[in-house]
Amino acid sequence: MTSANSPLSGKVALVTGASSGIGEATAAALAAAGAKVAVAARRIDRLATLSSRIEKAGGTAFAIEADIAKGGDVAAMVDRAASEWGRLDILVNNAGVMLLAPTAEADLDDWRRMIELNLVGLMGTTKAALPHLKASKGHVVNVSSVAGRVANPGASGYAATKFGVVAFSESLRREVYADKVRVTVIEPGLVRTELGDHITNQEFKAGLEHRLATMEALTAEDIANAILYAVSQPPRVNINEILIRPTDQER
Ligand SMILES: NC(=O)c1ccc[n+]([C@@H]2O[C@H](COP(=O)([O-])OP(=O)(O)OC[C@H]3O[C@@H](n4cnc5c(N)ncnc54)[C@H](OP(=O)(O)O)[C@@H]3O)[C@@H](O)[C@H]2O)c1
Repeated sequence: MTSANSPLSGKVALVTGASSGIGEATAAALAAAGAKVAVAARRIDRLATLSSRIEKAGGTAFAIEADIAKGGDVAAMVDRAASEWGRLDILVNNAGVMLLAPTAEADLDDWRRMIELNLVGLMGTTKAALPHLKASKGHVVNVSSVAGRVANPGASGYAATKFGVVAFSESLRREVYADKVRVTVIEPGLVRTELGDHITNQEFKAGLEHRLATMEALTAEDIANAILYAVSQPPRVNINEILIRPTDQER
């Protein structure tokens, strides 16, 4: 049960990609810390289950069905989140896909899918949220990746989107710091989630499964804890970047 003393009491958050993995864990963590949480993704049944789990634990949540790779959906999603409780304080841009393949074999549609969701969707969601975040002196959290700092073979398309998220976030930070809006980039290493399920290149899919079988990966809750840390700091503290690898991961 949350109370007026909970660290995020009175705050409203929107978490994208909340139907599984890091987004789901983050929504639960922010709600447990007292925020009212709007959870968005395409799988509305999973969002409904998450919302009722949050409500049963004494939190407040509601679900928004949205395809963030479709331009029109993002403004409507942000409007719904902000109008439900009359404000928006925290935007967690987490929805993403990772379709690994060597450049020579890459499917152009896979690249387009990653760019439309990981980059254009995140940018459009941020743009739509900015008026609300300026009004609340709010916080944008963008989930990039270690692949936004280290570009490995087979990740050319994915890394291009995640380097893009890092660049977008730094430019944004410098545009909005004077409005007291904070911007944080989260850069996880390997986390055990459903992310690899969508890889169509069998060699890279098997490679990821092998890594997950042979190392102790992070959990979605490890990343949710880092996000909670960033958004729970006093207003003077702007955590710009957190890169988190599993202890077992070299690069
Ligand atoms: N797992 C890792 O090792 C790792 C490492 C570094 C960074 N990351 C990043 O962490 C973020 C979350 O990934 P995850 O690992 O938690 O994977 P995940 O379990 O597959 O979660 C991805 C989320 O994105 C949502 N999503 C996918 N396409 C969407 C669309 N078109 N519109 C709206 N939502 C969409 C999915 O929901 P629906 O399918 O229901 O729409 C799901 O909720 C991603 O940005 C990923 O790049 C993950």
